[in-house]
Amino acid sequence: MIDKVDWNLTEIFYEIFQAKPELYARAPGRVNILGEHVDYNQGVVLPMAIDREVTILARKNTQPICRLFAVDLNEEIEFSLRDLDQKKDLNGKPFPRWALYPAGVAKVLQQKGYDLDGIEAAFQSTIPIGSGLSSSAALEVGFAMVWSALGGWKEDSIRLAQDCQQAENEYVGVSCGLLDQFSSVCGVRDHVLFFDIRNLEWQALKFFENMQIVIVDSKVERSLTSSQYNQRRETCEQAVKLLQKFKPEIESLRDLSPIEFAAYSEYLPEEIRKRATHIVKEIARVFSAVSALQHSDFRSFGALMYASHYSLRDDYEVSHPNLDYLVDQAHAIPGCFGAKLTGAGFGGCTVNIVTQEQSEQFMKKLHQAYWRKYKVEPSIFSVQASQGASWRRI
Ligand code: GLA
Repeated sequence: MIDKVDWNLTEIFYEIFQAKPELYARAPGRVNILGEHVDYNQGVVLPMAIDREVTILARKNTQPICRLFAVDLNEEIEFSLRDLDQKKDLNGKPFPRWALYPAGVAKVLQQKGYDLDGIEAAFQSTIPIGSGLSSSAALEVGFAMVWSALGGWKEDSIRLAQDCQQAENEYVGVSCGLLDQFSSVCGVRDHVLFFDIRNLEWQALKFFENMQIVIVDSKVERSLTSSQYNQRRETCEQAVKLLQKFKPEIESLRDLSPIEFAAYSEYLPEEIRKRATHIVKEIARVFSAVSALQHSDFRSFGALMYASHYSLRDDYEVSHPNLDYLVDQAHAIPGCFGAKLTGAGFGGCTVNIVTQEQSEQFMKKLHQAYWRKYKVEPSIFSVQASQGASWRRI
């Protein structure tokens, strides 16, 4: 069954391509509940896929050409699969940013030896763009699904997520970790995912039954995110190099417990020390949060979320005053047990855990407070943990 939104998309598809789609694919965004910026430090994370997603209708093209229509932006682009390095469309115009994601995925899949079909595809998304809920990873994963389904091959889930990550690292130029693509591929309904990036093992954990996940989009656009993000990653690598003088066996900040780190941190320059402090403690917080979840202890879980936010604000320095305001206000509203920024930071969204009974009131109060302070309407909505990406023939 195709739902109402997809019927719209189907109509648009007919209109643009004058043909029926063969395939429907969807890939969700994600919210990271805890474990921020630790994925590129071989750490552990606690995300969930959410019920906001990219949906794609597609069919094979007889030529090795991709015609893609971005419904939300009302933009169409055509490019050749034989010429992806150019990052230009058939008229020689540089790709708009959104086209880098599917094209990057195509490039990586080709490098892996897959003979990709040209496609005609129309897509739309309910994930707010650029707000830290992984709209780009969902786009990558959605198109990876399309090529895999049309080509009749299937990759292991983690490998597929890694292909999409590689597309973002090498083609788009953001040195992201595996968190976003993993969550979009592997999401499990009603569960949070505990993912260990060092050994790529993961498990789905039932989330607190009476707690609602509330997202608040500050509407602060994240500027310079990729350059700042890449810088943070380099700083972590520098920290490892410096610490290897004392402990040559470490490969990443994951290899140090907070206590071991405390023994050597004084030898690090201040900025590097602050960044590394966040990473080492954030990894420890994720382990503590898993234990809190297993003991149904939402107070401790929430306290770890606040601690994560303060560390992202003070040590990792990726927060924004509007996000800090949202977290402080959330803390003061009854029923909220944890709040922090989610994703890379620098703007975008906060994630909050709130009791189900009090979530309506919470959303209202937070909306009022934010409006009063900034005269900007935040977008506040609750999300459910959802299933990872999928496709079906239609
Ligand atoms: C972005 C990146 C992820 C991760 C988060 C921060 O979403 O794409 O890989 O590093 O930031 O946790």
